[in-house]
Parts: sequence; structure tokens; C-alpha cells
Amino acid sequence: MSSAEFQKLMSKMVPQFTAAVQNAGIYPDNHPQSLSYIQETYHVLEELFEVKGKITLLLIGDSLMVDNRPLTITGSCETAFAQILRNNAIERVTFIKGLTLLQLKEFIRNLSSASVSDMPSIRYIKFGKLEIKDHEDLDKDHDDSYAAEIDTIHDMEEKTTDERIKNIYRDTLGGGKINLEDTTEIIRLFTDNIHREANPLQLLAKTKSNDEYTFTHTTNVGILTLFFAEHLGFKGSYLNDIGVAAILHDTGKIKTPDKVLSKPGPLTSDEREAMETHAIKGAINLMEQANIPNIAVLAAFEHHMKYDGTGYPRTKGKWEQNIVSQMISVADVYDALRTTRPYRQDPVPMDQIIQIFISGSGTAFNPYLVERFLDLIDK
Ligand SMILES: [Fe+2]
Ligand SMILES: [Fe+2]
Repeated sequence: MSSAEFQKLMSKMVPQFTAAVQNAGIYPDNHPQSLSYIQETYHVLEELFEVKGKITLLLIGDSLMVDNRPLTITGSCETAFAQILRNNAIERVTFIKGLTLLQLKEFIRNLSSASVSDMPSIRYIKFGKLEIKDHEDLDKDHDDSYAAEIDTIHDMEEKTTDERIKNIYRDTLGGGKINLEDTTEIIRLFTDNIHREANPLQLLAKTKSNDEYTFTHTTNVGILTLFFAEHLGFKGSYLNDIGVAAILHDTGKIKTPDKVLSKPGPLTSDEREAMETHAIKGAINLMEQANIPNIAVLAAFEHHMKYDGTGYPRTKGKWEQNIVSQMISVADVYDALRTTRPYRQDPVPMDQIIQIFISGSGTAFNPYLVERFLDLIDK
């Protein structure tokens, strides 16, 4: 779809949306006229989602911006749409692919009612006020100001899962509370994406930099573990708790010095000890938190243990690793092998990764899990 065609569709969506909000304010719920405008808006959004996963409308001054450009609509519709946003103290609205007709209807009904001030963003519609970090740097009369403002918005929207996980990990420093709500929201996002993708392995990110490795890695381990858990038949609250355990498995690393985490060469024995204690530190962190599922504490403690009883932390007597820790351990090793690491420039090729799992079956890894995991990655 060309940029002109995209603009044309947007110019069709905005009047439909405006009319839908205006009608929802006049007619009772489910009135055929309101419903038909909502449905038409939804159909145009569906067409737009075929080319773009996220559609953001920004209100800048009196102009509506879409796709980094002013929206060109003739007539009073743009003004009416802008007025609806302004009435609700909204300066940006993003529609995200996956939006349902019911959610759109709810959003439109909220916009048309007077009680919208504390309306929460819903999963596939995000909205809010524009926050410009460097006011002095922006000259609103200059074109560059638009670009800067839009960049800021994009930064906010593109606040990645890695950054959200970084915040969750940082919350544990100094005994702060983990944002379990955000963790659950991330899990919901992962499972939605897993269901939507023909090959969820494509969702795994490449490592951007060594500094950010822990958070990109945790995102990947979260996605992989949830994909694996569903493949094994886990459902509902079990699946959620497994997701929480996967996302929080490396929380102890927030206390490991960066120079140890990103050291390119072999670790000294002190550095190795500092690295290995992340399992115990993570488990203690999580144990001190309220409402964290027990399995997350266990997985933080056990994810570097091996099926045959080796690995770390070392324990007195026989210790049986929980199946969830074993699953996370498989996902953890897979992600470490498929990404670049400070001590290894290139990812390990897939055939070698498969060999590593086959040869570790029964020693490092639970053989049943290896078999089922290879079903997933070796297609
Ligand atoms: Fe770890
Ligand atoms: Fe890990």
C-alpha cells in the first residue's frame, strides 16, 4: 500500500470514528446507527492493520498527524475528531493490531461519555498525553519540532518489553516491590504474539548490546518457555506462573557487576562466584516479595542446576530439580547459544545447537524435555 493509499484510508477512518463517537453520545447503546459507524470504523482499521501493526494519531496544535505526516482531510471532520480527543485530554491514540470490535466499541462509548477522565488504556488501544522531555529544544513553529515530538512519542510507544523487564528487575533492588501486574501483562502479550505467529521462534530478539543482554535474554526466555509450556499442555494459571518464573529467573543478575556480566574472556574464580550467586540472590529477592508464585522462587534457585545433579548452586544431599526449572534451563541454554555473547562473536549454528541438546539429554537436561523441545525448534 502506498503512502497516499494509507492516507486515503486514514481519511476514511477518521470521519467514521468521529461519527461513531458523536452517535454514541446521542443514541442508546447498540442503536443500529451507532453500531454501523463503529463497524465501518473497525473495517477500515482492519484494512489498515494489513499494512501496519500500529496506527498512531497525534494531536499537535490543531493538526492531526499520522504516520509522521499531517492528515489531509477536507471538511470539518478533522476539527471534530481533534475536539473529541481534546475534550478527553488525549493527545495521542494508538490502535494496535489484534483490536476487537468489542474493544473499539467500548473505547468509543467511553469517549462519548462524560466519565472518561480515568478511562484506562486497553490492551489494543493506547492513549494519553504527549510528554516532551526537552521543552527548550523544541520550537513548535518549526518543522523539526514535529519530528522531535513524534520521535518522543515513538520512543514512548516502542518502550520495549526489555525495558519493562529492566524496570521489574530494578524494582527488586533495595527490596522494592515487583510490579506483578506488569509481569502478567507482559505474559499476556507474549502468549498473544505466540498464538498469532506461525513460527513463534521468529519473535526472539537478537542481542543488541552486552549491557542489555540480561533483559533481551529474559524476554526471549519468557517467550520460549511459554511457547514450550503450551506445547507441553500447560494451561491457565499454571501457564501464567510458569511465565512469571521465566521472566523473573535471572532477577539475581541485577546485583551482579556489569563488568562480570559482559566480560569477554574467562572469569576469575571470584568473578565466577559473583556470577553464580545470581541464582541464590534471585531466589532470596523473590522469596521476600509478596504474591510471587513459589515456582518463581524455585526456578530462580534451580535454573542452572542440571538434570544429573551437577551445576549450581551446589546443595548438600540429593536435590530434585522441578520440571519448570528444567524447562527454563532448556530455554535459557537455547537462547544463550543462539545469540552472540561477550565471549563468542557468532551465534552457534542450529545443527550444533541440536547436537548440544542431544548430547546433554539425560545429563544436563531432562530427556523428555529435550525430545519435546526439539519438536519445536527442529521443524
Ligand atoms: Fe541465570
Ligand atoms: Fe538466564
